Amino acid sequence: MNAVPMHPRLVSLEGGEGAGKTTVLAALQAELAARGDEVLVTREPGGTPLAEMIRDLLLSPGHEPPAAETELLLMFAARAQHVREVINPALARGAWVLCDRFTDSSFAYQGGGRGLDPALIETLERGVVGLRPGLTLLLDLDVAQGRARTRGRDPQPDRIERERDEFFERVRAAFLARAAGDPVRFRVIDASRAAGTVAADAVARLREWRGGA
Ligand SMILES: Nc1ncnc2c1ncn2[C@@H]1O[C@H](COP(=O)(O)OP(=O)(O)O)[C@@H](O)[C@H]1O
Ligand SMILES: [Mg+2]
Repeated sequence: MNAVPMHPRLVSLEGGEGAGKTTVLAALQAELAARGDEVLVTREPGGTPLAEMIRDLLLSPGHEPPAAETELLLMFAARAQHVREVINPALARGAWVLCDRFTDSSFAYQGGGRGLDPALIETLERGVVGLRPGLTLLLDLDVAQGRARTRGRDPQPDRIERERDEFFERVRAAFLARAAGDPVRFRVIDASRAAGTVAADAVARLREWRGGA
C-alpha cells in the first residue's frame, strides 16, 4: 500500500497524560511566530465545534461508556471534521499547524490501549484522514510520573484518564513502537526533565525540521 501523504507544516505533539504536550506547544508556537510565520495551534479530539461535541461524548465520565470500536470511530469522526474544517484550510493558506495529539494517539490508545487491530486504524487513517504530520514530537514519560503531574492539574479526571496503569503502559509502548518504526517522522523527547529543558529540546527539533522544510 502507498504511504499516507505527509505535510511538512503539520507538526504533532504526542505522548501520554501529563507528559507536557500542552506546555511544550506554547514554546513551539512562539518559535514559529517569532519568525513571522502564521501558526495555528489546535488539539484532538476536538478543534471544531462539532469535534469538540464529539470530544465531550468521548471523554465525559457521565455518558454511557463507549465500546472500543465506538471510541475509535468517534475519534476518527472528530478527526475527519478537524482535518477538513481547520487543518487543511490552514495548510492551504501557508500556515503551520501544531496539533496537540493526532492519528498516532489512535494507534496508541485505541490500538495499544484497547487492543483494536492496527490494520483497521490504518484503513481509517488512509481513507478518512489522508495526511500525516511531517514531524511528530513524542514526549515520553514514565506512567507514574505522568499521573503525578495530572493529579495536580485535573480535579476531575476524564473517562480515559481514569484508566488503570496497565492501560497507560500499553499506550506508552505503542507510541514508542510507532516512533521506532518511523524514525524519519518521529523525534522521541525525554519528558522527565524540567519543563524548560523539555521545551528547549522540542524547539531545537522544530528548528532543525523547519530548516529543511
Ligand atoms: N517537564 C515538566 N516537569 C514538571 N511538570 C511539568 C512538566 N511539563 C508539564 N508539567 C506540568 O504537568 C502538568 C501536565 O502538563 P500538560 O502540558 O498539561 O501535559 P499533557 O498536555 O501532555 O497532558 C501541568 O500541570 C504542567 O504544568
Ligand atoms: Mg494537554
